[in-house]
Amino acid sequence: MNETSLKKTLSKLNIGGWRYIPSIGSTNDEALAWAASGAKDLSLVIADEQTQGRGRLGRTWFTPKDSALAFSLILRPTESLRPHLSRTVGVAALSIADACLKQGLAPQIKWPNDILLNGKKTAGILIETVWSGEDVDSLVIGIGVNVRAVSVPPAEMLKFPATSIEDELGKEPPAREEILHDILSGFIAWRERVASDDLIHAWEQSLAFRGELVQVQDGSALNRGGIVQGLESDGSLRLEDEDGKSMTVRFGDVSLRPAA
Ligand code: ATP
Ligand code: BTN
Repeated sequence: MNETSLKKTLSKLNIGGWRYIPSIGSTNDEALAWAASGAKDLSLVIADEQTQGRGRLGRTWFTPKDSALAFSLILRPTESLRPHLSRTVGVAALSIADACLKQGLAPQIKWPNDILLNGKKTAGILIETVWSGEDVDSLVIGIGVNVRAVSVPPAEMLKFPATSIEDELGKEPPAREEILHDILSGFIAWRERVASDDLIHAWEQSLAFRGELVQVQDGSALNRGGIVQGLESDGSLRLEDEDGKSMTVRFGDVSLRPAA
């Protein structure tokens, strides 16, 4: 990946602007600063390597060089998009899932922010917000994808199994630029349909653990358990508890695990 290959890839897409930084702490930090200083909608920050890549709550996201996709997209919500901001993680997850489907893989979305291949984590999404008073000024959508096998962290770093596109294809993966192109074009197309039921329907169809018993870990001692039913219209997860009662899990720092 370099300026020339990215220029070729990105010229085919209607994005706001882009910055390529070979080695960076976190593309989200660069994008948050750029957003705060007036980046256009759909501006992109992409790196070959991250030295301080992060997941939610500051957890580490591993991005060694020459092997993964690590990028952040800046969104400036229009008035018509504002009511649907809570669906943005679904737009991102579906665009990554579709890019995997195109390679003949069978992705699933582990709600809220991970993409699984063969039950193992291959990509993650980290959304951060720039506020203007009480309004959202912009959103930064950080996406990390394990493309080559060497981008998969060592097992001792993981709480959940991980894999890569190369491992799951069992052969040389496509160039990272091709996957980037597919994710970005999917994102642009899904965002146009963010208000439609199709988005929720497609997102629901791709959910991991649907119909299965999971535990919702929220950092407290009281983990809730339930069977995954589907999604509410704002993208919250709908579960059914052991008494058949419906319960909703909102976005926040929650992690799903198959029940033991
Ligand atoms: P999980 O369910 O994977 O534990 P989570 O939802 O609890 O994730 P996140 O903040 O979404 O936590 O993800 C961060 C975690 O992902 C890290 O703590 C680490 O275990 C794992 N991780 C870090 N880098 C990678 C990577 N390149 N591929 C897969 N998993 C990674
Ligand atoms: C997660 O699963 O917790 C989300 C991981 C998000 C990783 C991406 S890589 C690009 C962007 N920069 C970061 O520091 N994090 C996101």
